[in-house]
Amino acid sequence: MTTLFIPKQIDDYAEKYTSPESPVLAALNRETNMKRGDAVMLSGHLQGAFLQMMSHMIRPECILEIGTFTGYSAICLAVGLRENGHLHTIDIDEELVEMSSRYFNNAGLQDKITQHIGEASEIIPAINESFDLVFIDADKPNYELYFDLVFDKIPIGGYIIADNVLYGGEVVLPAEEQSKNAMAIHRFNEKIRKDNRIEHLLVPVRDGLMVVRKIKDN
Ligand SMILES: C[S@@+](CC[C@H](N)C(=O)[O-])C[C@H]1O[C@@H](n2cnc3c(N)ncnc32)[C@H](O)[C@@H]1O
Repeated sequence: MTTLFIPKQIDDYAEKYTSPESPVLAALNRETNMKRGDAVMLSGHLQGAFLQMMSHMIRPECILEIGTFTGYSAICLAVGLRENGHLHTIDIDEELVEMSSRYFNNAGLQDKITQHIGEASEIIPAINESFDLVFIDADKPNYELYFDLVFDKIPIGGYIIADNVLYGGEVVLPAEEQSKNAMAIHRFNEKIRKDNRIEHLLVPVRDGLMVVRKIKDN
C-alpha cells in the first residue's frame, strides 16, 4: 500500500523533521527498490523511525516480527532492544534471506536477530519465548490468528503493533467494495475494538498502525 493519507508536501516535511535514515537503512531501502517489484512492502523512513522510537521507549528484551521481507523494520525494531535482547523474525519466502541477513550483518545486529523461514502460524507456537513487543506485518487474512497466537506469549504491559490497518483507505468503503484483504483488516480492527483485555491506538502513519497494549490476561 502506498496511499498517502496526508498531502505529499506534509509527508515530505514530516520526513525532513525526522532523524535521517541510517546509511544501512538507506542502502537497504535503495537495494530493495532496485531489485524487488514489491518494494512498496518495506516500511520506509517515516514508519521505520516510528517503530524504532517505539522500540527505544519500550526497551524490549524480546521482540517477535511476523513478516521480515528484506529486513527494514526488523533493523528498526532491533536497535531499541535492551542489552542482550533478541528479535525473532518470520517470513515464508526463503529467497529474501540472502538480502535480509546481509543487512543484519551490515547493521551489526546478526547476533541479536534470529530468522525463521516458513509459515508463521506454525512457527509462532514453536518459539518458546515471552515477547514484550510483537510486530504483525504479514498476510492480512491471518492477522486475527496471529493476534490470538501471540496474546498469551505477551506479558501484561507488553505491546502488539499491526501494520496496514487502514489498507489504503479501503476499510471505510462499503463491504461490497472492499478487497478480501481489506475485509480481513476490518475484521481485525473490529476484534481489537471489542477486546477488553487491551488498550489500543490507531495511528494514521503511512498505511495505519494499530498499537495495542495488553492490560490483562482475560
Ligand atoms: C509487508 S511485507 C513485510 C515488510 C517488513 N516488515 C518491512 O517493514 O520491511 C510481508 C511479508 O510477509 C511474508 N508473509 C506472507 N505470508 C506469510 C506467512 N503465511 N507466513 C510468514 N510470512 C509471510 C511475505 O513473504 C512478506 O515478505
